[in-house]
Amino acid sequence: MTTINVGLLGLGTVGSGVAKIMIEEADLLSQKLGHNLRLAKVCVRNLSSRRNFSPPTEILTTEPGEVVGQPDIPVVVELMGGLEPARTLVLQALSAGQHVVTANKALLAVHGREIFQKAAETGREIKFEAAVAGAIPVIRILKEGLTANRIQSVFGILNGTTNHILTRMTKDAMTFQAALAEAQQSGYAEADPTNDVEGFDAAHKLVLLTALSYGVLPQVSDFHVEGVTRLEPEDFTAAAEFGYVIKLLAVSTLDQADGRLEIRLHPTMLPAKSLMAGVNGVMNAVMIRGHASGDIFLSGAGAGMMPTASAVMGDIIETSRDLRAGSAPQVPALGWKNLQSWSVKPQQEIRLSYFLRFTVIDKPGVLSAISGILGRHDISIAQAIQKSFEPARGGVTLIILTHKAREMDLQAALAEAEKLDALTAPTRLIRVENQI
Ligand SMILES: NC(=O)c1ccc[n+]([C@@H]2O[C@H](COP(=O)([O-])OP(=O)(O)OC[C@H]3O[C@@H](n4cnc5c(N)ncnc54)[C@H](OP(=O)(O)O)[C@@H]3O)[C@@H](O)[C@H]2O)c1
Repeated sequence: MTTINVGLLGLGTVGSGVAKIMIEEADLLSQKLGHNLRLAKVCVRNLSSRRNFSPPTEILTTEPGEVVGQPDIPVVVELMGGLEPARTLVLQALSAGQHVVTANKALLAVHGREIFQKAAETGREIKFEAAVAGAIPVIRILKEGLTANRIQSVFGILNGTTNHILTRMTKDAMTFQAALAEAQQSGYAEADPTNDVEGFDAAHKLVLLTALSYGVLPQVSDFHVEGVTRLEPEDFTAAAEFGYVIKLLAVSTLDQADGRLEIRLHPTMLPAKSLMAGVNGVMNAVMIRGHASGDIFLSGAGAGMMPTASAVMGDIIETSRDLRAGSAPQVPALGWKNLQSWSVKPQQEIRLSYFLRFTVIDKPGVLSAISGILGRHDISIAQAIQKSFEPARGGVTLIILTHKAREMDLQAALAEAEKLDALTAPTRLIRVENQI
C-alpha cells in the first residue's frame, strides 16, 4: 500500500490532536483511504514541554528544516500559530513543492495574498478548513457543494469564547467581567482575552469566509470590528423584551443594488426565534445564503483539541487523495490568482435598524426632543419604551428601536443628542439584524 508522509510544525492543542488521530487511527484511515498516512516528523519549540499526546520521541525535532523542504514529506501541516516563523515556513514549504495545511487564520488574514499567490505559482495546495469555525466543514461546503451558487450572504458566530460569555450574560444576567472571569476559570478564555473579546479572532475568520464567498481578500482594517466588552446586563434584558438575543455576529453580504460588499463584525440583536440565536455556549455557527441553494445552516464545535484536529485531518486526507490521483490543486481554481477587487462599502453608508438605549432625566419633553433629533436626521422610530426611574443610573432608561437608517445619519443624530442636558449617561447603540 502506498504511504504518504506528513510533517507537523507544532504539537500544542491542535497539533497533539492531529498526532493522536494519525497514530491511534492509522489502521482505520488506511482502510478508508486505501493508502497509509504516516506522521514522519514533528517540529516543536521545546522537546520537554508537557503535551496532551506524545508521539514517539524519535520523530520529534526542534529544527523546522527537518520538515520543510524535505522531499520525502509532501504534506506540511502548520499548527504553530502566530505570523512568524509560520509565514516564512509556509512560503518555503510551497516553494519546495510541498502542499500545506494550516489552521492559522491570523496568518492567512494578514499574509493571505502572498501565500495564496505562492501556492498558485507553485501549483501546490494551501488548505485551511480548521482556520474557520473549527470542526464545521464550512470551507469545503463553500468550495465544493455550493460552487455553482452566487453567494448572497454569509453570517457567522465565529468565536466560541465570546459566544460563551454572551450566553452567560443572556441566560444568567451576568456582567461582562463576571462572565469573562468564569470563562477564564473554565478554560474557555485565555489569560489575555483581547483577541477574542475585541473581535479580532472572528474578524480574521470573516476575512477568509469573504474570500471564499466572493473572491475578495479584504483587510480587517477595511471593515467595522467591534467586540463585546461594552455590553451591559441591561442590554440583554431590553433585547429580550423586544424579542431579540445579542450575539457577536460576523456578516459578509453582497449588496445586490450597488454591487459592493458589506462586511462587519459587531454585537448584533437577532430575532430570538432564529436558528443563530439558539447557538449557545462555545458553539460556532455559519449560515450561507446562495442564489440557488437558499439558506444553509451549519453548527458545531468551533475550537478545541479534537474538533479542530478533525478539520485538519479532513484537509490532510483530501491532500493525500489529490496526491495519489494527481489531480490539480483546488485553491487556484477559486480565483486566488486574480483576487477580485470589489469594493467594501464604508460602514457609514450601511443601512441597518438600531437599538438605542438612552439614560435621561425624568422630565416632560425629553422623548420628544430625542425623537425630534432622530426625525431631522431621517431616522424613523419603530418602537419606544420608557422605563421607571433607576437611582443607580441617575435617570430613566429610554429605549428606541429604529427602522432602517444610514449609519452616517444615526451617528450624526447621536452626536446631536449627546449635547442635550437631559442625557445623564452615554447612549448605547446595538445594531439589529432581521434578515436571518
Ligand atoms: N486551539 C484551538 O482550539 C484552535 C482552533 C482553531 C484554530 N487554531 C489555530 O491553530 C494553530 C495552533 O493553535 P494551538 O492552540 O494548537 O497552539 P499552541 O497550543 O500554542 O501550540 C503551538 C505549538 O507550536 C510550537 N511552536 C510555536 N512556535 C514554534 C517555533 N518557533 N518553532 C517550533 N515550534 C513552535 C509549540 O511548541 P512547544 O509545544 O514546544 O512550545 C507548540 O507545540 C493557531 O494558528 C490557532 O489559531 C487553534
